[in-house]
Amino acid sequence: MDINAEQLKELFYQAMATEKAGVLVYEAALKASVHPDLKNELEKYADQTRNHVTIMNKLFETFGLDPNKKTPGFEIVETKGQALVQAIEKALAWGDPKTAQIVAAECVVDIETKDHMNWELLAEASRRLMGEKGKALKDAVDEVEEQEDQHLYHLKGWTRELWIESLGMEAVLPPPEERKNVDTAIAAERAKMSRNRMLQRGGRRRGARKEKEEA
Ligand SMILES: [Fe+2]
Ligand SMILES: [Fe+2]
Repeated sequence: MDINAEQLKELFYQAMATEKAGVLVYEAALKASVHPDLKNELEKYADQTRNHVTIMNKLFETFGLDPNKKTPGFEIVETKGQALVQAIEKALAWGDPKTAQIVAAECVVDIETKDHMNWELLAEASRRLMGEKGKALKDAVDEVEEQEDQHLYHLKGWTRELWIESLGMEAVLPPPEERKNVDTAIAAERAKMSRNRMLQRGGRRRGARKEKEEA
């Protein structure tokens, strides 16, 4: 079956809109992040996302698309991105830094969920395309796909652990997904399951330290 060229174009426009909105969401999230390791992670991913916009621009050139055109799909993604930026700004205005940080983490996960799916679909499409276009898309996927895995899985880990900490329970920060440098869905599930072992090990170490101090 031939690939639907019109719908592939639509995917390109939505992917461009997602990367552009992603840069703005990261910039807002950076203002709301308190934890230094989270800040570092967000800075790194913001830079990678800026590079993804450059990569999309090159793809638009190869595929003969207009990078300034806004399709309805582009505008919908853009509007969702603006809503996420507004949500972070609203949380910052509340004045509770820890709450704002959680809102920011949730918002980056929202945009990264779309970003991750776009690149999964672009990877699928790249396997069907031949010639110059196929090669350009495959090269882009090779450069970007693993980064998108890390963006989504690591930031999901951050969001969960920040919530756990806010609930007064023991959190694993940075999250296991980041410590284990997870880049697949299976590894993300495994990392999540390993958090209890990490907490137990941490608890045993703290216990041994306490005994030593008391002796
Ligand atoms: Fe991206
Ligand atoms: Fe991303």
